[in-house]
Amino acid sequence: MKTFEKPIYVTKPFLPPFEKFCDGLKEIWDSHWLTNNGPIVQRFCKQLRNYFETDNICLFNNGTLALQIGLQGMGISGEVITTPFTFVATIHALFWNKIRPVFVDIEPDYYTLDPEKVEAAITPWTTAILPVHVFGYPCNVNVLADIARRHNLKLIYDAAHAFGVRVGVQSIANFGDLTVLSFHATKTFSTFEGGAIICHDAQTK
Ligand SMILES: Cc1ncc(COP(=O)(O)O)c(C=O)c1O
Repeated sequence: MKTFEKPIYVTKPFLPPFEKFCDGLKEIWDSHWLTNNGPIVQRFCKQLRNYFETDNICLFNNGTLALQIGLQGMGISGEVITTPFTFVATIHALFWNKIRPVFVDIEPDYYTLDPEKVEAAITPWTTAILPVHVFGYPCNVNVLADIARRHNLKLIYDAAHAFGVRVGVQSIANFGDLTVLSFHATKTFSTFEGGAIICHDAQTK
């Protein structure tokens, strides 16, 4: 077997040329606008809105906080059906909201939540389903949407691994009530640290 000449690190981030990065810093220095919705954040939001074909995007300092606030903002409580095959932050966000995670197994091909096993885990306390698009593979979004609709459950996607993913022609952020992204250094698209919530309906509660 031919080996690679240099090791390929899966979590080594791609960085822009340092000079280019410094040009960006200069813009911040010149403006003296360091926080509170400055021009760079506004421009970034606009670009993300175009990319994800949405009007509603809210930026956070990381994906974990975005998940936590997303669950809280939607008033999710009781039990939430989720996957054991995820980064622990998915479950932390539930615990910090005093929500009980109910683990449902993954399907063998793409390691995403197995929709065929979801219905058996629904109880009178279930309020939402929190699936994860794993390693850029989208969940079975159509079947999960159908289950959520029939049982009147909220559907919140952890899309930390799925920045550039599309399902057919649709952006990954088009599915469910909320989609949560991470821009952590290990992700396909990174801002070093960062995260976002996207929802298509501004009235989502
Ligand atoms: C599936 C999943 N959910 C949530 C997170 C949390 O994102 P962050 O590190 O930006 O808080 C990560 C990654 O770190 C993740 O892989």
